[in-house]
Amino acid sequence: MKNLIAILFLSLHLCSLLNFSIAGRSSIASGVSGFANPSVTLRSSRHLLAEDSKISLEEHLRNLEELSKGYMTNSDLENAIMAFNRRCSSISRVYSIGKSVEGVPLWVMEISDKPGKQEAEPAFKFIGNVHGDEPVGRELLMLLANWICDNYMKDPLATLIVDNVHLHILPSMNPDGFQKRRRVNANNIDLNRDFPDQFFPMNDDHGLRQPETKAIMSWMEGIHFTASASLHGGALVANYPWDGTEDKKKYYFACPDDETFRYIGSLYSHHHRNMSLSTEFPEGITNGAHWYPIYGGMQDWNYIHAGCFELTLEISDNKWPNATELPTLWEYNKMSMLHLVASVVKAGIHGKIFSSDHGKPLPASIAIKGINYTIKAGETFADYHRLLAPGNNYEVVATMPGYKSKSTHIILGEEAMTVDFILDPVIANADDGFLQKSWDNNFLPWWQSKLFIMILILTFLCILRRRLLNRSKHRQNAGLKRPQL
Ligand SMILES: *[C@@H]1O[C@H](CO)[C@@H](O)[C@H](O)[C@H]1NC(C)=O
Ligand SMILES: *[C@@H]1O[C@H](CO)[C@@H](O)[C@H](O)[C@H]1NC(C)=O
Ligand SMILES: [Zn+2]
Repeated sequence: MKNLIAILFLSLHLCSLLNFSIAGRSSIASGVSGFANPSVTLRSSRHLLAEDSKISLEEHLRNLEELSKGYMTNSDLENAIMAFNRRCSSISRVYSIGKSVEGVPLWVMEISDKPGKQEAEPAFKFIGNVHGDEPVGRELLMLLANWICDNYMKDPLATLIVDNVHLHILPSMNPDGFQKRRRVNANNIDLNRDFPDQFFPMNDDHGLRQPETKAIMSWMEGIHFTASASLHGGALVANYPWDGTEDKKKYYFACPDDETFRYIGSLYSHHHRNMSLSTEFPEGITNGAHWYPIYGGMQDWNYIHAGCFELTLEISDNKWPNATELPTLWEYNKMSMLHLVASVVKAGIHGKIFSSDHGKPLPASIAIKGINYTIKAGETFADYHRLLAPGNNYEVVATMPGYKSKSTHIILGEEAMTVDFILDPVIANADDGFLQKSWDNNFLPWWQSKLFIMILILTFLCILRRRLLNRSKHRQNAGLKRPQL
């Protein structure tokens, strides 16, 4: 038994010698974020449903038909998506995430140098036309997809996005509402009120959920998005969580990542031609609940349940601007859209987590000290991508059941940082290499338990061999009359 313990000590000590850790590969001089100062003096309220009540409904519909001239119909949109895919087949793929109430496929374009393949890269999604009567987004998203396709290998942002991001674009989440020129879907449900809410249970029954909402929710089970944006109309502002308050009152209600969201919201508004010049919304951004609280929205759900940082972008005061204005609106939003997508590569922290004993990728959890929010690394490559406001110090903590947590301090500058982790199993202590009191832990990685059994067998064989040798020596000794000299 002494032998066994000695061998175990030796092998564990050898194991622990192999343990090491890296963290915080680069640290760029910190700069002060240009977009500080949260706005706390917003005064207006949203007036999205304000219609001119003086005109008759028929007249209103006729006006809408007039306004929708020059916009793609649903079948135009489908054709445009398929044409895009044919034209850019090497860097795109088209798939459907489900169907609307009236059976219209919800087509998504994925843009990447390896579309449809899993890579250790962040994913971003754009969703347009959540509200049927807000059609500018679906038009701009088609322009965006085509622009990236045309500028891949020519423009640095387009190239960066194709090479390093999986960009998924759903131009229309609500084709039925669009067809009817109205906000709600074919079942009269506002899709941006149909998600599970963090405070109120009204949407908790999955069976009652709209097919469009269900499609989005199951889409996000399959793909882990780092960030996203949905496109709306009726105002000009980048809206960020929280959208709802616990008591239904209207006030600034900050989510744990308030600073991160103000950073990415400002990234959008400042790259936009004139969003940041808003007199209504300082910096062109707003906390949703401060503007007006909503419940069952898609944005908060993304952040809470999907580890995805979503903005709600109001991209034009007029919901149905004349179609001749669409190229201008595209120019106004183009750099914002590109920079927002690129931010999942160019900002925040990124890395992978491995186990120290066999190098296996560990889908660990990553948290930032002081921010009550956790993201999970990918299952396959254990890569994580976490947006954070630049110009701050952070303590990054990696946690994985069965492993010792590790944390590292970083100074995040204007550029993204790589922060990798190598975690040690709880059984070995990386610091001094001595056996911990870990036999109490009933956790043993599979290979260690195998090793244990092997050592046990080897030890048994050793003992057996020695005994046999001893016995035969004895016999030999007994057979000799006198010792050989
Ligand atoms: C931005 O430009 C558009 C189009 O010129 C204009 O309608 C809108 O009022 C401007 N908004 C701000 C905040 O300057
Ligand atoms: C952290 O957030 C969770 C919800 O995600 C909440 O239940 C918990 O109370 C929060 N903890 C602190 C310390 O605020
Ligand atoms: Zn909307």
